[in-house]
Amino acid sequence: MKLQIINGPNLNLLGTREKNIYGNQDFNRYFKSLQLKHKDLDLHYFQSNIEGELIDKIQEVGFDFDGIIINAAAYTHTSVGIGDAIRSITTPVIEVHISNTYSREEFRHKSFLSPHVVGIILGFGLKSYDLAVSSFLN
Ligand code: DQA
Repeated sequence: MKLQIINGPNLNLLGTREKNIYGNQDFNRYFKSLQLKHKDLDLHYFQSNIEGELIDKIQEVGFDFDGIIINAAAYTHTSVGIGDAIRSITTPVIEVHISNTYSREEFRHKSFLSPHVVGIILGFGLKSYDLAVSSFLN
C-alpha cells in the first residue's frame, strides 16, 4: 500500500515552533518511527511552505497512491486551491491536525479541505498521523 503524507507551511519547524501547542518532536524523526512501525507500507513524506507545491504533489500522487494524509496547516483555513485539488483526484484523502483546531481561534474552525476528504483526525498530537495510517489499513 502506497501512502503519501503531505505537510504544509511551518510544519518543518515542528519541535521548535510553539512547543506548548505542537510538542517538541521533529517531524522527520517521527516519520522515521512511522516507517519502522509500518514496515510493510510504502510511506512517503513531503513538506512545503508553498501552496502551489502542495497542489502539485496532490496532483502527482492523487491518481496512483492508495491514500493521502494531509495537514495543510494554515492553508487549511484559506486555500480554495488545495480543496479543489483534493476534489479533482481519485486517491482518498484524510485531513489531519496536530492540535484540536476547534478549541482554538475561530478562524481555525473553517477548513476548505474537510468537505472533500474521507475523514478528519485532529487533536492527538503527532499521533494523529499514525491514526490516519491505521485508518487506511482498516
Ligand atoms: C495545524 C493547525 C492550523 O490551524 C495551524 O495553522 C497549523 C497547524 C495543526 O496541525 O494543528 O500550522 O494544522
